[in-house]
Amino acid sequence: MDVTRILELDHREVEALFAKIERAEGKARTPFIEELAASLTAHMELEETIVYPAMRPVTGDEPVQEGETEHDLARKDLAAMVGLAPDEPGFGAALAAVQAGIAHHVEEEEGEVFPKVRRDGAKVLADMATPFMAKRLELGMPVSADALDASSTKAELADEAKQAGIKDAGDMSKGALAEALAKQMES
Ligand SMILES: [Fe+2]
Ligand SMILES: [Fe+2]
Repeated sequence: MDVTRILELDHREVEALFAKIERAEGKARTPFIEELAASLTAHMELEETIVYPAMRPVTGDEPVQEGETEHDLARKDLAAMVGLAPDEPGFGAALAAVQAGIAHHVEEEEGEVFPKVRRDGAKVLADMATPFMAKRLELGMPVSADALDASSTKAELADEAKQAGIKDAGDMSKGALAEALAKQMES
């Protein structure tokens, strides 16, 4: 399983939430703001506890330190934004600050850091899959069946399904394995 593909799908989800906040007005923004804050916070924790430490031997220290610093900045900007009412003057500027920081960070992860891990860290990626899935489960971050299917080989999904205690994993099709794993993460 290529967990970086799943992280990239999280990024797309965050971008979609930014767009929803921008399109909504006043109080109608609140549910999207809450979803954005929860989703970003969980994504950063997942990267900091599982992904960054595992990739460090491949990328070296600098990208990890940079990533952690950018996450800290994002958390501060996010807290400032959440502290303002969505119809309060200044909210737009606070939103723009969060969005710009995240856009920069995502560009680095997707443009430099993740490609390097894919290129030079195949084993690191493979070893990360099980703790990555366990941490997502703990954080309440389900992965869709489509995302699992697209980021993994059948053998990888069968392996994950066995680790997760899904019965008959050896006899299931790739799509069925992805469905079963996704379903387990939602429950
Ligand atoms: Fe990320
Ligand atoms: Fe990150």
